Amino acid sequence: MKISVIGCGYLGAVHAAAMAELGHEVVGIDVDAARIAQLSAGEPPFFEPGLPEILAAAGATGRLSFSTDIGAAAGCALHFIAVGTPQLRGSYAADLSFVDAAVEDLLPHLAEGDLVVGKSTVPVGTAARLAERIEAASGATLAWNPEFLREGYAVKDTIEPDRLVYGVRRVGDALDARAVGLLDEVYARAVGAGVPRVVTDYQTAELVKVSANAFLATKISFINAMAEIAEEVGADVTQLADAIGHDSRIGRRFLNAGAGFGGGCLPKDIRAFVARAEELGRGESVAFLKEVDAINLRRRQRIVDLVVEHLGGSVHRRRVAVLGVTFKPYSDDVRDSPALDVAVQLRGLGAKVAVTDPQGMANARARHPQLKYRGLEGALREAEIVVLVTEWPEFRALDPVVAGQLVAERIIIDGRNVLEPAAWRAAGWVYRGMGRP
Ligand code: UGA
Repeated sequence: MKISVIGCGYLGAVHAAAMAELGHEVVGIDVDAARIAQLSAGEPPFFEPGLPEILAAAGATGRLSFSTDIGAAAGCALHFIAVGTPQLRGSYAADLSFVDAAVEDLLPHLAEGDLVVGKSTVPVGTAARLAERIEAASGATLAWNPEFLREGYAVKDTIEPDRLVYGVRRVGDALDARAVGLLDEVYARAVGAGVPRVVTDYQTAELVKVSANAFLATKISFINAMAEIAEEVGADVTQLADAIGHDSRIGRRFLNAGAGFGGGCLPKDIRAFVARAEELGRGESVAFLKEVDAINLRRRQRIVDLVVEHLGGSVHRRRVAVLGVTFKPYSDDVRDSPALDVAVQLRGLGAKVAVTDPQGMANARARHPQLKYRGLEGALREAEIVVLVTEWPEFRALDPVVAGQLVAERIIIDGRNVLEPAAWRAAGWVYRGMGRP
């Protein structure tokens, strides 16, 4: 199929390359000329495992191109909208200006029978509003097809999704069968492999996406709340998670207590959900998500407090090594990153903060040039305390004896509960985990 993908960020760039990998002819469109130049040269504009390979493979077939000109979408049968919906400044709500602009810019290039497919995460009700506009202006139709990919696994999640959700127009009592057919053609490989597929209306599809992220965020904050209690009584939240996780109704995944969730999705999605529910007069239905957010933000503060406590009450002019700036491993994304937040807060308290990260340094430095950016050894050297906040494999694999020879003081705060306390203590370290004795 001939496909355009509008927006080439973490979602769109991967989607465009993956669709070409699946055999479609794809043009990726973005207003950011530097990003389009990089993608056109086969260089991913961000770190995502597997993306360089599929960009190169698709480039070689000639099926994938990139453009800053929205006119390049003309002639495509399907148009994916994959632009961002960040949190509005000074509000919990999502900023829909990029989605609205993408649709408006696309309208003159749509032909009757085209299918516009929304992938961006939007407040419920957005698709119905856009559908009206698109149908009236162009005779094209709209579907909403939320994306569930995780950064770090985005290529695999796009090519082999665990479910497909199609939100399509209601035609009388039925759902738009033509849109379903077109989407089945796009995702023929996954559909053929029997991937579960939920065909529904716009509003259900929109809600599926935000409720999935709200559930995941709630699961993480639940275990972090247990960590707070465990800290009071000297219990071990990692053992608690293992024990309750053995109950298959609960499950062990997303029960890792620590610095909490960050990134471009979970934090802003739960806030936008609260804002939208309040607009709908149903604020109380998701009021608990405010608590989920508050628990999450308290964990960052807890790490900062532990550093202050272990440095005897003040971090002023003390040397702190922060391991990690990205919101999770296998990503260079520092949006709403707990790790970067901890580093910046400590710097704000007067500490000399040296940070290190395998992939996130450039993005972090652009936002926070006041921090010192070092290699792992450089960050550890002469540190008076070490704080692990993103669980990159190289940090998990740190040898406490070797690290102990680099630092000035052997104190480590394990903000992700990934180190073996006994090994670190045996090497002479003061070890503090999150919700662990
Ligand atoms: C999340 C969802 O997992 C995806 O399904 C969704 O498609 C995506 O948002 C999105 O809306 O685009 P992502 O933001 O890539 O994906 O990251 P996750 O793997 O969900 O991790 C989110 C945060 O939770 C990270 O900061 C991670 O460190 C933290 N986390 C995760 C924990 O603190 N504990 C856990 O047990 C698991």
